[in-house]
Amino acid sequence: MRKKIVAGNWKMNNDLAETEMFLVELKKQVFPENVTIMIAPPFTSLNHAFNSLREHPVTVASQNMHQSNEGAFTGEISAKMLKSIGANTVILGHSERRAYFMEDNATLAEKVNTALENEMTIIFCIGEELEDRRNNTHFEIIKTQLSEGLFHTSNKAWESVIIAYEPVWAIGTGETASPEQAQEMHHFIRKTIAENYSEEIADGVSILYGGSVKPDNATEIFKQPDVDGGLIGGASLKVASFMEIVNAFY
Ligand code: G3P
Repeated sequence: MRKKIVAGNWKMNNDLAETEMFLVELKKQVFPENVTIMIAPPFTSLNHAFNSLREHPVTVASQNMHQSNEGAFTGEISAKMLKSIGANTVILGHSERRAYFMEDNATLAEKVNTALENEMTIIFCIGEELEDRRNNTHFEIIKTQLSEGLFHTSNKAWESVIIAYEPVWAIGTGETASPEQAQEMHHFIRKTIAENYSEEIADGVSILYGGSVKPDNATEIFKQPDVDGGLIGGASLKVASFMEIVNAFY
């Protein structure tokens, strides 16, 4: 079901003590009822965050997971392990995973299958490089990431899928997509889902924008009709800026 969502992707930041400091501050906040709030701490803090937030309306998500449920994959984390510590939501396909860890659409399709088999909610990240936009191939890139990563799934699977459009050229750069650019691509994503499934399914998918979302630009981006919230990096590491973005819906 389509919801307003603000999710904080902490990436490789905050050890256990820094996580606890964040959580103490976060639990003092008053949360808007109409916004789903998520945080994605590093693996080492997931269980602590889940236990600490049991009584609070904040979803704890993982930043990644392996496509196998168990086995000889040194250093990897399985869906089963994540669920055992209360992390039922997982970010898949972040551009940093695609770039630095060579996760291609085929691998991500396997991860999607494993997450769905384990009844997890997926935040599936897609996004073009600056070169793609300059070459005007960005729509083609997005369509391929969707079709090769997600369009093998059933209609029902979309009840557990959230899309995060994160133009790579806007991540961590301070170079945010304009509200118009975000709306144009979000509309394209929704239209593409509708063409491959149905209008009903497409209208029910939450599509988040990510890429240098800050307190001073969130409202204009979140105002766009096909933008359902944000996947926040740097600005999610401090409770104050994260909550300003949570409260940025008009
Ligand atoms: O997953 C969210 C992230 O990629 C965006 O990072 O720092 O540009 O908000 P940032």
